[in-house]
Amino acid sequence: MADLDTPEKLKTELLAEVAAADSLAVLEEVRVRALGQNGAVTRLMKALGQLPPEERKAQGQANNAVKVAVSEAIEARKAALEAAALDARLAHERIDVTLPPRPEAQGFVHPISQTMDELMAIFGEMGFTVAEGPDIEDDFHNFTALNIPEEHPARQMHDTFYFPADGDGQAKLLRTHTSPVQIRTMMTSPPPHRIVAPGRTYRCDSDLTHTPMFHQIEGLVIDKSTHMGHLKGCLEDFCRAYFEMDDLPLRFRPSYFPFTEPSCEVDIGCSRAGGELKIGAGDDWLEILGAGMVHPNVLANCGLDAGEWQGFAFGLGIERVAMLKYGIPDLRTFFETDLRWLRHYGFAALDQPSLIGGLAR
Ligand code: PHE
Repeated sequence: MADLDTPEKLKTELLAEVAAADSLAVLEEVRVRALGQNGAVTRLMKALGQLPPEERKAQGQANNAVKVAVSEAIEARKAALEAAALDARLAHERIDVTLPPRPEAQGFVHPISQTMDELMAIFGEMGFTVAEGPDIEDDFHNFTALNIPEEHPARQMHDTFYFPADGDGQAKLLRTHTSPVQIRTMMTSPPPHRIVAPGRTYRCDSDLTHTPMFHQIEGLVIDKSTHMGHLKGCLEDFCRAYFEMDDLPLRFRPSYFPFTEPSCEVDIGCSRAGGELKIGAGDDWLEILGAGMVHPNVLANCGLDAGEWQGFAFGLGIERVAMLKYGIPDLRTFFETDLRWLRHYGFAALDQPSLIGGLAR
């Protein structure tokens, strides 16, 4: 590098170095060596003081011309290098703002889970707690304790799946309804009781409207003075909250279950005009659940004094009410694990429409 060369020579050398700088870092080094505190141009300026006064003006002008030329050359080179760096980035970092965002893998809540959550939320608001029982049951809990003795025709109606007999000759079975949870609740804890028990149930049956596995939710209320009026009010509130219709017509129709007396079935008002099912309107009826006052024999089988305790029970099919509320036409599709079906009928994890409606509507 030039030391105290003539300004003209220094300028030529520095401009060549600026032109040769192939990166911003190298250019910065050149700038420091030329214009920095101890740079060649700076020293040239400082040396001016030692010159005889008559030479200073001309020399000063020459020095200044070098400084200006070098500064301008550095600025121009810097701009060129920065533009080149940007061009290089633009060439390989391409962002196409017209592309749609990549879809994230999103899961969906199955309508059965959604419906169970809604049912538990509604009954939860009414003061029920959730109870559970095993899918593999024994004869006592599924039938005998529920006042369905051996040879009772109701056993045939249940199309039970039996396991091979145990050593003691007793065959375990897949529960045919959630009612055994009534028995387990009453036998393992003291009254009063107010529980709902959702879960899987099984019957050896398969056609358009039956699948071998399905879901029910059971309800049980046992207290000292719980009567049929409570059953009616509770199920009315429940149906109107679940279907989100304050004026949903309801009908309590006498029926028969071995474990309740009296027994009833609950129908909701609907219309089937033009082959299209509409809930709430019209003069037709649709059965949605079974219920009744717990039979004194059932209370006695669980060690409760029927003179002191009484109450009601109900059971309903979860798929059935899910199909009605969400317009799902075919029961069997619930269990086909078809992702397209789930995307269509499933629920986003944070989307809980009826929980917002609930009882408080
Ligand atoms: N367990 C009955 C069924 O599966 C429903 C029911 C439950 C009826 C409780 C009355 C009381 O059909």
